[in-house]
Amino acid sequence: MSKFSRLAVIAGAFASLAGFGSTAHADAAAGKATFTSICSECHEVADFEGEDAAALQGTIKNIVAGTQKHKKALKLTDAQVADVAAYMASGK
Ligand code: HEC
Repeated sequence: MSKFSRLAVIAGAFASLAGFGSTAHADAAAGKATFTSICSECHEVADFEGEDAAALQGTIKNIVAGTQKHKKALKLTDAQVADVAAYMASGK
């Protein structure tokens, strides 16, 4: 399956599961699934341990919006960004 269609499948699955927006409802387990399928190709989650989840969320949002330079364009919903940021900040 191409990377793009895999992303679309993930986005659809999460859109039905998760609310949009707030860090308060971030789901680190869902974030782990996203990180493992998309980000782990280049990143080690442990590298982000102890970072502020809200700050990470802001950075990732900027990457998704294209306002922050990143090696790979990211296509994530707001809920996925919150979840993946929560997982990354936990470091595991
Ligand atoms: C094709 C490789 C690649 C993929 C896939 C990738 N990244 Fe990155 N990312 C990089 C590189 C290279 C950098 C810049 C160098 C660095 O900080 O390691 C970076 C930087 C970042 C930064 C900024 C780090 C900082 O300290 O400012 C964040 C946050 C980030 N990536 C998040 C993600 C997330 C979330 C995903 C998955 C949804 C992802 N990346 C997928 C290669 C990738």
